[in-house]
Amino acid sequence: MKTFIINGSHRKEAESLKTAKFIQQTLSAILPERETYLFSLSENPLSLWDETQGGPNSEQWEEPSRHLKQSDSLIVVCPEWNGMVTSGLKNFLHFCGTDLVGHKAGYIVTVSASDNGAYPVAELRMNGTKNSRLCWIPEHLIVRQVSEVFNGPEATGKSDTYLRQRLEYGLRILDAYAKALTPIRDGNLIDHEAFPNGM
Ligand SMILES: Cc1cc2nc3c(=O)[nH]c(=O)nc-3n(C[C@H](O)[C@H](O)[C@H](O)COP(=O)(O)O)c2cc1C
Repeated sequence: MKTFIINGSHRKEAESLKTAKFIQQTLSAILPERETYLFSLSENPLSLWDETQGGPNSEQWEEPSRHLKQSDSLIVVCPEWNGMVTSGLKNFLHFCGTDLVGHKAGYIVTVSASDNGAYPVAELRMNGTKNSRLCWIPEHLIVRQVSEVFNGPEATGKSDTYLRQRLEYGLRILDAYAKALTPIRDGNLIDHEAFPNGM
C-alpha cells in the first residue's frame, strides 16, 4: 500500500511543501504500514505536457510515474493562486492517465496564507479527472493561515489542533477508500478500451 503525495506549488519556499511534508510524517505515524512518496514541484516543475519530449515519455516523469503506478491513493496539496489551482498542478494532471490514477482514491488539500482555499477545491472537484477517472474522496482539507500551523511536532493553537485532528481523520478515510477501490480496479468491470474518455 503506497500513497503518492504531490506538492503543487512551484515556489522555492513553499508553504505547500511544508504542508506536504507534514502530511507525509503524519501518515507514516498513524498508518505505518502505508508507504509514501513525495513529489514536489518546488524548483522541480515538470516541463509542459506535449506528445513528444515533454510528455509522459520524458525522463523527468520516469520516477514519479513509477511510484504513482504503484500507489493506490494520491494526495494533492495545492495552494490557491489568484483563486486557482497552480498551472504546475494542472500540468501534472495532464500526465496522469487512467493507467496511473484511474479508480484510485484522491484526497484534496489546499493551502492559503489567509482565509481562502475553497476555489482550488472546487476547481479540482469540477475538472481534471474526467478522463483519468481519479476518484476524489468526499473529505478534503483547507489549510488556512498556513504560516500558523503544522510547524512542529506539537500543535500551537486552536486552529493548529483542529487541522491536525481533521487531517488524521481525512487520512484514515483516504486509507479506507483506497482499500475499498482496489477490488474495482482488479475486477473485470472496467473497460477503458471501449470507453477511453469520460463524458
Ligand atoms: C501568484 C500568487 C497568487 C496568490 N493568490 C492567492 C489567492 O488567490 N488566495 C490566497 O489565499 N492566497 C494567494 N496567494 C498566497 C498563497 O496563499 C501563499 O503563497 C501560501 O503560502 C501558499 O502558497 P505556497 O505553497 O506557494 O507558499 C498567492 C500567492 C501567489 C504566489
